[in-house]
Amino acid sequence: MVNPVSRRHCGDVLARAPEQKSSAIDKANAYAEVAAEIAAVVEGESHLIARMATVTALLSTAFERYFWTGFYLVDRERPDQLVVGPYQGALGCLRIPFGRGVCGVAAQSGRTQIVADVHAFPGHIACDSRSNSEIVVPVFGPDGTLIAVLDVDSTAYAAFDEEDAAGLEAILAQVFGGRAPEAVAAS
Ligand code: SME
Repeated sequence: MVNPVSRRHCGDVLARAPEQKSSAIDKANAYAEVAAEIAAVVEGESHLIARMATVTALLSTAFERYFWTGFYLVDRERPDQLVVGPYQGALGCLRIPFGRGVCGVAAQSGRTQIVADVHAFPGHIACDSRSNSEIVVPVFGPDGTLIAVLDVDSTAYAAFDEEDAAGLEAILAQVFGGRAPEAVAAS
């Protein structure tokens, strides 16, 4: 099937106004809107990197408080490490061991990490000193295997909450077919 967006300029989907509002309903609506845009762009495209690149581009455009948005993938050759994938923002560090920093803790625990002040997080890895808060969401494949984490940083403190976690987890499940291991075990 031909990707409907590819018939237009790719940038057309980026043209709408960035999200300005912060109430929970507005935030949920903003995530639903960007989820629909991502689904439209990646329809018919199964390559993991193309999907990840689309997610980072559309999320970072939709939300002004997203200062750095990117994936760290589980390295198949060194499965105790994450390696940087598609991202939007300044230069990110290349590798993160499981258990280190916010990304490594999210990968090891399989749990979303919301950090209001990264400077107070033990072992935080400072790729850019302008980042002050962070959310990291594990990315699971359909069989419950961890394939990556999505890391979003903000220059604001406490920029992310449970609404962001819910919105991002829903997008990642939609795009990568993911189910958390406990959901796979229960089925
Ligand atoms: N701060 C992250 C490292 C990745 S960068 O911020 C892009 C962490 O502590 O895991």
